[in-house]
Amino acid sequence: AAAALETLEVPVSVNNVKTITKEVTILFGSQSGNAKGLADKAKKTLEGQDFKVTLSSMSDFKPNNLKKVDNLLIIVSTHGEGEPPDNAISFHEFLHGKRAPKLEGLQYSVLALGDSSYEFFCETGKQFDQRLEELGGTRLYPRFDCDVDYDEPAAEWLEGVLNSLNEAQGGNTSHQVSAEGTQSLESQYSRTNPFKAEVLENLNLNGRGSNKETRHLELSLEGSGLTFEPGDTLGIYPENDPGLVDLLLEELKWNPEEKVNINKQGEIRSLKDALISYFELTVLTKPLLEKALELSNNEKLRELLASGDVKEYLNGRDLLDLVRDFGPWNVSAQDFVSILRKLPARLYSIASSYAANPEEVHLTIGAVRYEAHGRDRKGVCSILCAERLEPGDTLPIYIQKNDNFKLPNNPDTPIIMVGPGTGVAPFRSFMQEREEIGAEGKSWMFFGDQHFVTDFLYQTEWQKWLKDGVLTKMDVAFSRDMDEKVYVQHRMLEHSKELFEWLEEGANVYICGDEKNMAKDVHNTLIEIIEKEGGMSREKAEAYLASMQQQKRYQRDVY
Ligand code: 2AM
Repeated sequence: AAAALETLEVPVSVNNVKTITKEVTILFGSQSGNAKGLADKAKKTLEGQDFKVTLSSMSDFKPNNLKKVDNLLIIVSTHGEGEPPDNAISFHEFLHGKRAPKLEGLQYSVLALGDSSYEFFCETGKQFDQRLEELGGTRLYPRFDCDVDYDEPAAEWLEGVLNSLNEAQGGNTSHQVSAEGTQSLESQYSRTNPFKAEVLENLNLNGRGSNKETRHLELSLEGSGLTFEPGDTLGIYPENDPGLVDLLLEELKWNPEEKVNINKQGEIRSLKDALISYFELTVLTKPLLEKALELSNNEKLRELLASGDVKEYLNGRDLLDLVRDFGPWNVSAQDFVSILRKLPARLYSIASSYAANPEEVHLTIGAVRYEAHGRDRKGVCSILCAERLEPGDTLPIYIQKNDNFKLPNNPDTPIIMVGPGTGVAPFRSFMQEREEIGAEGKSWMFFGDQHFVTDFLYQTEWQKWLKDGVLTKMDVAFSRDMDEKVYVQHRMLEHSKELFEWLEEGANVYICGDEKNMAKDVHNTLIEIIEKEGGMSREKAEAYLASMQQQKRYQRDVY
C-alpha cells in the first residue's frame, strides 16, 4: 500500500534524480456539455502520459490561483451571439478586468468550440486566446477553432498540445490521440458510437386546434447500459427530410445511386443515403458559401460574399436555395458533397427520471415548421419525430451529461422551476425523481404556453404531483387566452414576496426554455424581485443573483 501511495506523490524521485513535475491545469467553460466532455478526455489522456492534471470548471476555479499555473489548457464553447457559457462568465470577466494578473510564466493553449453558422464563431475561445497573450502568456500550441463536428480537430489539437508539452519537458515522443469520444464507465455507447434506441411511444401532447405540436417520445435504453440523471440531455442523430433530398437531386440532376466518399476515413455511401443521413442540408454557413463559390464561380454569389450581406442571406435558407440561386453546378457529386458539413446531433433535455422509469428515456420535442423565402421549412429532428417515426422504429442516440443543471444534492432544499413550453421537460424529470426518492423539499413550478385547453403539457401529471404534495405550488401563464399577454415572469412578479422568501430560505432556481426572449426576461424579473423584496439597489440585486449562480443555486438550460 505504501508503494502504491508513493506513486501518487509528485515530484517523483528516482535514484535521487528529481524528474520535473509535469503539471497541467485544464479549465473548461461548457453550456451543453461538449467542452466538459473534451476536458474530461484531455485529462485522461494527459494522465496516461504521467502528467499531473487539475481539471476544473471555470466557475469553480479561484482566478487568483492562475499565477501558480505553469501550463494551462482552456476548452471553451461560444454561446448565443458570441457569449461565453454560463460557467465561464465570471472567469471571463475577471481575466478581462483590471484585476487580472500578469501571467509571464504561463504557457497555454485554447481549444474553442463553436458553430460556423453563427457570425461570432468561436468568439469566446478567441477572446481567451488573445487576452492570455496580452497578459504575458506564451502559446504552447496554436488555438484550434472547431465547428459542430469537433471530434477530429479536437483530437488533433490534443495531440499537438501533448507533443508540445513533451518537447518542453525535453522528451521527443510523438503521440497519437484518437477521435473516439469518452466512454462512460457503464456503457459502450457514446456520442461517437450511438445506441439505436427503439421508440416505445410517440404522442402529440397538444389538443386539437392548437397552434403547436409537441411530441412526447418514449425510447427504450434496454441493453445499452446507458443511464442518466435528471437535468442530463439526450443527443439524437436525425435524418434529413427525404422530400428535400429528392428536390436537391432533381435540381442537380445527379444519380441518387452514385457512390460517394463521405469522410476522411473513406466511408462510401450512395449519394441519396449520404444526403439523407450524413450531410447537413438545412443550415448554410459563410465558409460553405465560400467553398461553393470555388465550385460554381457564380458572379451573383461572388457579389454576395463581397457585399457584407451574407448574414442576411444565410438566415432561413438551406442548400436547395443555394443550389437554385447560384448555379450552374458543373461539378461532380463527390466534389459537391465534399464541401458540406456533417449533420450534427440534436440535443434535448430529458423529460423523465431514470430511477422512476428504468431503461427508458422520455423527451418533449416541439415540432418546428415555418415559412421562409417562399417555401415551407421543417426542423430536421423535430419533424422526423413528428412525421416519420413510429413505435418499433429506432433512433441513434447518446446521453450527454449536463453538470450545469442538477437537482440539489440535499433533497430538502426547496426548488423553483421556470419552464414554459418545451422548457417543461427537465422539470418533469425533477418531479419524477423527487417523487421516486421521497424528497421532502418544497417545490414551485412556473409553466406557460399559449392556451390552457390545448397546450397545458403534462397537465394531469402536474395536478397529481400537486395533490400528492410532491409539488408544493404551481403557477401557470397562458399567454393567448386573454386580451393581454401573461407570461411566467408576470406570475413570478405577482408572487414576488413569497418568491424572495424562498430564495432567502436557500431555494435553487432553474430556468429552462427559450434563451433569446424568455430566459433573459425571467432573469431580469428575478433581479427586479430581489431588488424590490430585498430592499436592494439594482447592483446589489445583480450581485445576489450572481452569487446564487456561483453557488450553483441558479442554473439554466436554455436554447
Ligand atoms: P406567446 O407565444 O403567446 O408570445 C411557450 O412558448 C410560452 O412562452 C408561450 O405562451 C409564449 O407566448 C411564451 N413567451 C413568449 N415570449 C416570452 C417571453 N419573452 N417571456 C416569457 N414567455 C414568453
